[in-house]
Amino acid sequence: MLHPHILVTITGANRGFGRAVAHAFTTSSAVSPPSRLTLILIGRDTTALERVQAELKSETTKVVVVGDVQFDEIERTDEWLGKIQTAIEDVRETGPPITKAILINNAASLGNLSQTVARYNWRDIKHYTDINIVSFSALCSSFLSYFRPRTRSADDVHPFSPSLVIVNISSLLAIQAFPYWGLYSTAKAARDQLLKVIALEEASNDVKTLSYAPGPLDNEMQRDVRNTLGDMEQKELYTKMHTEQARSDGGLGDEVGQPPPPHRSRVQLGNSH
Ligand SMILES: NC(=O)c1ccc[n+]([C@@H]2O[C@H](COP(=O)([O-])OP(=O)(O)OC[C@H]3O[C@@H](n4cnc5c(N)ncnc54)[C@H](OP(=O)(O)O)[C@@H]3O)[C@@H](O)[C@H]2O)c1
Repeated sequence: MLHPHILVTITGANRGFGRAVAHAFTTSSAVSPPSRLTLILIGRDTTALERVQAELKSETTKVVVVGDVQFDEIERTDEWLGKIQTAIEDVRETGPPITKAILINNAASLGNLSQTVARYNWRDIKHYTDINIVSFSALCSSFLSYFRPRTRSADDVHPFSPSLVIVNISSLLAIQAFPYWGLYSTAKAARDQLLKVIALEEASNDVKTLSYAPGPLDNEMQRDVRNTLGDMEQKELYTKMHTEQARSDGGLGDEVGQPPPPHRSRVQLGNSH
């Protein structure tokens, strides 16, 4: 009998929400024995990814690190797509058949929140788009074409096709506009829409997609929002939410340079972005 073997590939897994999601999978009842879980942690900081890898090791979970993946170095896209594909290929060759493969597109950047659209320049726009739309689209496409090749040769060593799930970590800003969030909102909306198109194109191909907005998380990204947001009214709101959260937690853990425990990235503070 084929036991479930779930492969979860997470971008930006070295910290914040990506790290929290990796932890959540290892404790999920869906992957308790005899099921198997393999996590592929992707990011630019290999040392930080290896720290998360060490936190996650268990008997039923294998954790693989793919580091030095820089989404802004768009000319190196083929290189990092190749590294991710090699990691997946290794899992397929050395482990039990993968029954479900999940891609979690978590990595993202804020961009410059101190500027309105009138102050943008095209280089910053391109840089932001490379990280948050081009890399995302390239990774989704590569994941689909790897697991759903157009043609299969007779000597294909992987005749078993896992079900696929592609997730986009999104935001309320994908559907609701706020001043100073121009590029962030644009990228989240574009990412949501790409997954909707994939869902239609792959409807009969056992592929599901999900855009999930976690709501404000009391972590480093939020700290950057509080420090850089140009809109004073929103800045005050985010500061107030953080102060209330810190008071209820009894401290300001992530302000002293220590990574917060993974659950802090799941904290719901109120309005989502
Ligand atoms: N924080 C919130 O309140 C909040 C609310 C709603 C949605 N979200 C969404 O949740 C997701 C996770 O955010 P987070 O809160 O965990 O933020 P975070 O702590 O800032 O983490 C962002 C992750 O993205 C990676 N990343 C950024 N730029 C990259 C690049 N050029 N190349 C490769 N990786 C890059 C970062 O890697 P490095 O460590 O190397 O920088 C980090 O792993 C994002 O999609 C975000 O938009 C966050």
